[in-house]
Amino acid sequence: MSSDRGEKRQRLFFALWPDENVRLTLDQAAGKLLGKRVKRVIAPNLHITLAFAGSVSAVVRRCLERAADDIRVPCFELCIDRVAHWPRPRILWAGPTHVPAELWSLEGAMRQALEGCGIEPETRPWQPHITLARKLSRPPEDVEFPSLHWSISHFSLVESVTDPAGVRYRVLRSWALGSG
Ligand code: 2AM
Repeated sequence: MSSDRGEKRQRLFFALWPDENVRLTLDQAAGKLLGKRVKRVIAPNLHITLAFAGSVSAVVRRCLERAADDIRVPCFELCIDRVAHWPRPRILWAGPTHVPAELWSLEGAMRQALEGCGIEPETRPWQPHITLARKLSRPPEDVEFPSLHWSISHFSLVESVTDPAGVRYRVLRSWALGSG
């Protein structure tokens, strides 16, 4: 995307990006839950957004990357064990019942990083979620979801790219969390 002055902009967000095992397990659980008739979020797109920066310039991207360099949060475990439906954006999502303190710290640090780079912070309370399906007016009757264990050892800066085939995400860079 370009601004009026021809400056290249990118639509960016920080996210927890699942490894292949977690991604596959999530995708299979979503398939069981939703069946074939519902169009699900494709497996490569499953993630948890930590902070959404929106369309930013290269200068702001560098600022975000520098801020991410300074984040110190230990690795932690996340248990994805619930499914919920938001009627307004018509989203079905999976997420943790218990949000560990480290995840709150990480989200707080991300919010500060965005603010420090001049990005308006999100005013709605943050709810960690993995969007499983969009444009779903009603949740399925049975919202059983197997508890899924996800070891969080890094966070990522991701670009959202919209092309004729739909939206896809490109992980630009990842940062390791601390080991203790
Ligand atoms: P969603 O999955 O709940 O739609 C890339 O678009 C990611 O950023 C998605 O995870 C999306 O959340 C989230 N996102 C998109 N627009 C957003 C906004 N204006 N504020 C917060 N998060 C947003």
